[in-house]
Amino acid sequence: MSAASQKTRVLTGITTTGTPHLGNYVGAIKPAIAASQDPSVQSYYFLADLHALIKCQDPKRVQASRLEIAATWLALGLDTDNAIFYRQSDIPEIPELTWLLSCVCAKGLMNRAHAYKAAVAENEAAGNQDPDKGITMGLFGYPVLMAADILMFNAHKVPVGRDQIQHIEMARDIAGRFNHLYKGDYFALPEAVVDDDVATLNGLDGRKMSKSYNNTIPLFVSEKKLLKLIRKIKTNSLEPGEPKDPDTCTLFQIYAAFATREQREAMRAEYAAGIGWGEAKNRVFDYLNEHLREPRERYQALLEDPGHIEAVLMKGAERARAQAAPTMDRLRQAAGLGRFV
Ligand code: TRP
Repeated sequence: MSAASQKTRVLTGITTTGTPHLGNYVGAIKPAIAASQDPSVQSYYFLADLHALIKCQDPKRVQASRLEIAATWLALGLDTDNAIFYRQSDIPEIPELTWLLSCVCAKGLMNRAHAYKAAVAENEAAGNQDPDKGITMGLFGYPVLMAADILMFNAHKVPVGRDQIQHIEMARDIAGRFNHLYKGDYFALPEAVVDDDVATLNGLDGRKMSKSYNNTIPLFVSEKKLLKLIRKIKTNSLEPGEPKDPDTCTLFQIYAAFATREQREAMRAEYAAGIGWGEAKNRVFDYLNEHLREPRERYQALLEDPGHIEAVLMKGAERARAQAAPTMDRLRQAAGLGRFV
């Protein structure tokens, strides 16, 4: 075994339906880029664009989101010599593996998936005759495609949000079933990695920052727009001079996710001393704007050069397929689909 294949393999996918926001950065992108610099780890990061089609059938949105997410990761310094960075849809072995896995995966397991159950519950609550109304096979089989993403590269660790833990457990189940049925150690059993220390940011209205609440601050909006959005963050009616509580304050929380320890403590003191909301917002804007300026410029330059992004992703796909193709050959053989000679 080569040294490279003994490294811990860390893999995660990003569904390409939205525009990256501050919450994505703090919760997922920043830790992932840091992890990709660890030489003891082989990381795989990919644009889950086949998954995107489950949620979004607006081709312009899917196409734009793929470009924006790729540009964001590159602008923030993902080292693509180290990490293998690719588009899911460039790896034809993944849908092929999805089929092999579908044929060993119990339908009952999929019946229990949270996302599917939530969709059924919604139909029932709405009094629909058909509990499966509007539910596609894509949504139903979503966890199998995700299992294929993970098992294709025999990932050991899968950093995800809490809502995805069930999917990793299903991938383990499916892997175990395949190994058992075809009598071999074809797949390593992946583990979910959920980091409770990384902050989840709140959005403009004080709820969790999320595209579905429409309360996000996109990472790379213009300076003007950034100021406008920060001014919109919900605060309370305390006047300048009155002490304020940083621990229940979205504005402070956003600042704290970016600032150093000393800066955080200094801002806490300002809150205690009664800094006015207008002033506090200007300070947070100045700080964020300064920090985002350089990556924002790189991001804009990348968006204007999609050929470069395409070339980076094609290189990633080539590296990914160099592993996926031989693995897929073995799996075909295991299932009785090998060549005759
Ligand atoms: N389902 C994940 C999400 O919505 C994205 C994803 C797709 C993924 N394939 C994956 C994450 C494989 C980890 C591993 O966040």
